[in-house]
Amino acid sequence: MLGAPVQEGAGRLGCDMGPSAFRAAGLTAALEELGHRVSDRGNLAPARLRTLKHPNPVVKNLPEIAAWTEALADASYRMSAEGMPIVFGGDHSLAAGTLSGLSRRAAEQGRELFVLWLDAHPDFHTLDSTASGNLHGCPVAYATGQAGFDGFFPALAAPVKAANICMMGIRSVDAAERKALTAAGVTVHDMRAIDEHGMGPLLKAFLQRVEAANGILHVSFDVDFLDPGIAPAVGTTVPGGATFREAHLVMEMLHDSGLVRSLDLVELNPFLDERGRTAILLVDLVASLMGRRVMDRPTRAGTA
Ligand code: ARG
Ligand code: MN
Ligand code: MN
Repeated sequence: MLGAPVQEGAGRLGCDMGPSAFRAAGLTAALEELGHRVSDRGNLAPARLRTLKHPNPVVKNLPEIAAWTEALADASYRMSAEGMPIVFGGDHSLAAGTLSGLSRRAAEQGRELFVLWLDAHPDFHTLDSTASGNLHGCPVAYATGQAGFDGFFPALAAPVKAANICMMGIRSVDAAERKALTAAGVTVHDMRAIDEHGMGPLLKAFLQRVEAANGILHVSFDVDFLDPGIAPAVGTTVPGGATFREAHLVMEMLHDSGLVRSLDLVELNPFLDERGRTAILLVDLVASLMGRRVMDRPTRAGTA
């Protein structure tokens, strides 16, 4: 696991404390209790800053986020050869780096990267379409090779196929994103779809696709996927999020699939937490993903 204390992509300060909160909430011990060998690589630092100025005047902290993207792409590429990288932030701009590095690794293995994006937001803005200028709203557009990042963000070794991305929990989409997501062919299960069909069946269908394609699965978990009532420690709360039970079900199904090869944990803002409850919930969810269960049951873990 690796901490990425990047906060320059978010609209408010505090995500730089995320890695400390994950550690204080007992992430290492929770994984070791499940029998995993854990190596905490400490916190990453950004690559060297370059002077970068984008014509869209609202864009904030572009040199910082470009430098983090470079460092994270490199680190996740390297870590994916050694085990299962868990990168904890840090705001969601960090996924620009992890998706880039993991997709490069998958391509070199002759396989395709699939991404389960658990979030209230699709984070599908380009540098031109963002209205807030907060670059945590852009990583998916960048990693799938949408236009306009050239010369500003590091070049992609292998863009992620938009058709290989499944988003769940979505309930706050800007107009430009809605149009671009449809054009690109990203699967978006908004809260309406989850209420109508259920988290389990929708996730199952995606996992079957990943398996049929012999894909490598990455999970990007934004704290605001969860309902703010159970997870207050995030700067971009949106009402109507995933419940405690839905979130654990997703993690348990992911575990049983045996398909997950890497994980981002993002947007935890400990400054907004209540006695660490959000950080503790996140650690429990990661434990479900990594094999904690109520009763024994047959799984495909380790066989895929
Ligand atoms: N779409 C909004 C924006 O561009 C919200 C993005 C929220 N992203 C996040 N990673 N929390 O500002
Ligand atoms: Mn996000
Ligand atoms: Mn979000």
